[in-house]
Amino acid sequence: MLAGKRVLLIIGGGIAAYKCLELIRRLRERGISVRAVMTKAAAEFVTPLSVSSLTGDKVFTDLFSLTDEAEMGHIELSRDADLLVVAPATADLMAKMAHGLANDLASTVLMATDKPVLIAPAMNLRMWLHAATQRNLETLKGDDILVVGPTEGDMACGEFGPGRMAEPAEIIAAIEAHFTGAKPAARGPLSGLRALVTAGPTHEPIDPVRYIANRSSGKQGYALAAALARLGAETVLISGPTVLPAPPGVTVTRVETARDMLAATKAALPSDIAVCAAAVADWRVAEDAEQKIKKKPGEKGHKLALVENPDILATVSQLKKGRPQLVVGFAAETEKVIEHATAKRKRKGCDWIVANDVSPASGVMGGDLNTIHLIFDGGSEDWPILPKQAVAERLAQRIADHFTDRTSDK
Ligand SMILES: Cc1cc2nc3c(=O)[nH]c(=O)nc-3n(C[C@H](O)[C@H](O)[C@H](O)COP(=O)(O)O)c2cc1C
Repeated sequence: MLAGKRVLLIIGGGIAAYKCLELIRRLRERGISVRAVMTKAAAEFVTPLSVSSLTGDKVFTDLFSLTDEAEMGHIELSRDADLLVVAPATADLMAKMAHGLANDLASTVLMATDKPVLIAPAMNLRMWLHAATQRNLETLKGDDILVVGPTEGDMACGEFGPGRMAEPAEIIAAIEAHFTGAKPAARGPLSGLRALVTAGPTHEPIDPVRYIANRSSGKQGYALAAALARLGAETVLISGPTVLPAPPGVTVTRVETARDMLAATKAALPSDIAVCAAAVADWRVAEDAEQKIKKKPGEKGHKLALVENPDILATVSQLKKGRPQLVVGFAAETEKVIEHATAKRKRKGCDWIVANDVSPASGVMGGDLNTIHLIFDGGSEDWPILPKQAVAERLAQRIADHFTDRTSDK
């Protein structure tokens, strides 16, 4: 099915450019012919010689090389392929594509093509989470540009988070899905709706080696994101540090602090549904030390000044513009669960609160079971003790029923 297909690979100037060498080999093993365009910056990371040795073809780098134009004009180059793949898609290339700039061979080819384009973004996580990149991503998706990754993980720049280019195998799976028409869009009662879920703890740095955290495992939020995706919602999960794998069909953005989580949440809007299940730290250290704080001889204790963190649930619930139609908060309480959660619903301005008893005796924090009270305007429901998976299924179904009822009311 793939043999005989032609891919034009546009290599951008990022550290992940080295992964293209592997990508080219794997594509050619499948009988796909690969022709490559490299940006000037890309040639700083891998040599055109390595790329051309693997493609078995000339590498195109210069828009104004007359020889290139005579042999293969940029228009012809842009159309003489079944698919254009941009990997790594730098923040710069994404911005150019989103704004229609054409000031070098790569961007001109991308403007001149009438063929489908798949991008594999790769960049530092701050660049990825930057509002401009997220805006450009939305524009590109709106222009039917296919996107694979990025994934999260340790980055070459020493940070951890989203922005790592998808591995060659994932890019090939996306190429295969494109050519074979596999991967049908999820169908279900939430099809056509966007859902945003926050999950896990946050880590608030004290110094380069210490942080303030909590015992949240993220299991409930992850299970909920998976359940919403199974019902057809286009689901984004914004996760604090956890050891859990990304749920299938869910786009995961990994963050560390409450402030990062708020930024990622804002970047994921607009959304029809927002479920704030993360255990966001209420406070952070006023000034995290640049160097490890040392014990001083004779010091009996050490005081840390704390300041309040942004309140993500209240921010989303009280948005004047673009508020999700349904905002669901979680209230982890250790006493007077319903009373405290009812007050929290009013204070934050969310629609539903899922209250759970997280007192040490309940075993909920980090465990697999959960006892839920669902609190809404004018009432509450007590659910039986259930596995977190079952709580997620039930809550996702309640959300679907809510939207179905609203639609059938109209
Ligand atoms: C060491 C180094 C690594 C870089 N890695 C990336 C990267 O992974 N992603 C990215 O978007 N930009 C990265 N940049 C910045 C780009 O190289 C720069 O924005 C360049 O203009 C991109 O050009 P291009 O989009 O034409 O390839 C890096 C720069 C340097 C010096």
